[in-house]
Amino acid sequence: MAFVNENFLKLQQRYLFVEVAKRASAYKELHPEADVIRMGIGDVTLPLAPAVISAMHSAVEDLAHKETFQGYGPEHGMSFLRDAIVEGDYVSRGINVTADEVFINDGAKSDTGNIGDILSSANLVGITDPVYPVYVDTNTMGGRKIQFIPCSEENGFTGEIPQNRLDIIYLCYPNNPTGAVITREKLQKWVDYALENESVIMYDSAYEAFIRDESIPHSIYEIPGARECAIEFRSFSKTAGFTGARCGYTVVPKDLKLKSQSGEKVSVNALWERRQSCKFNGASYMAQKGAAAIYTPEGRRQITENIDFYLGTARIIRETFEGLGFNPMGGENAPYIWVKTPGEMDSWDFFDLLLDRANVVVTPGCGFGQAGQGYFRVTSFADRDRTIEAMERIKSCIKSL
Ligand code: MLT
Repeated sequence: MAFVNENFLKLQQRYLFVEVAKRASAYKELHPEADVIRMGIGDVTLPLAPAVISAMHSAVEDLAHKETFQGYGPEHGMSFLRDAIVEGDYVSRGINVTADEVFINDGAKSDTGNIGDILSSANLVGITDPVYPVYVDTNTMGGRKIQFIPCSEENGFTGEIPQNRLDIIYLCYPNNPTGAVITREKLQKWVDYALENESVIMYDSAYEAFIRDESIPHSIYEIPGARECAIEFRSFSKTAGFTGARCGYTVVPKDLKLKSQSGEKVSVNALWERRQSCKFNGASYMAQKGAAAIYTPEGRRQITENIDFYLGTARIIRETFEGLGFNPMGGENAPYIWVKTPGEMDSWDFFDLLLDRANVVVTPGCGFGQAGQGYFRVTSFADRDRTIEAMERIKSCIKSL
């Protein structure tokens, strides 16, 4: 008889954004006339930049002719994209990362979970709370014990450095869901902790392109010592509108070594290379060609305009809540705005109330962890006019409470 992986039975019944979508659809079924505005999942709404589209078109053309046709690419990504990433995201900022440390993927979500394949299930995992739910769910699937690192307004949602030893630590900055950023000094403390405890940091910087305050680090490798203790995940989803096109990358430095049971130091880069070449066949040629185009001057300018646009939408959201007497967080170097529910309402109760009275979908804070209870998250990725309409409805709803 075949048995299931018991760890899956420990998961919450549904993945957060599936639950949000299900509740919104159930409401719509009961109220077909309702004009529901969805500001829950952070999905982009601006089309791909013209430079990306043109590169993708020409990639399709390559596939149409025998002379330029591409079959399987290298599992770790095409060199034109890896080189562009190294130059555009690292060397140009004075950061030491080489092309053989960059692994192209189909988006950061997959690799933040897949990375567990090469790590022992005996590791104790530290996860900041509240946070993007994939880290908790995938480590639960992998049978690892999790210790939550509570984040609050008092510690700027960057968590206190733990007193005990954690083997793996997940950090996400700019943060999903709170929109918080981490200073160089605080990130250095996490790196020092990891070096001292021989831990590894999983640094998710999927939202780094939203950083406008240049004192904030874009990459963990700006911090001395990080090459020996950190893996970095990046995504083109929010940077360049690739939520549908799918492309991102993971950096695994060659200086990162972890121990085997026998005490031998093992190259994590080599293990990840082995895992990827067995389980992954690379992102599509079109997606990689499109992604490389964002590193051209024209592509860079176009995606920066798009991000500025989303940050403009974030400002409208922030100002709405400020005008209502709330103290919204995030939305300045991040696309998410994090707000306390009125009257200390439970997150899901407020979600239901807003859906019912304003026909607006937000994400309940408790879906990101216990410390998110009593908060909700609003995304700035929705259409601008729809966002303005949603803010008007939220204003009336809150004033009527
Ligand atoms: C979110 O809304 O948190 C993100 O869009 C989810 C994701 O990137 O997978």
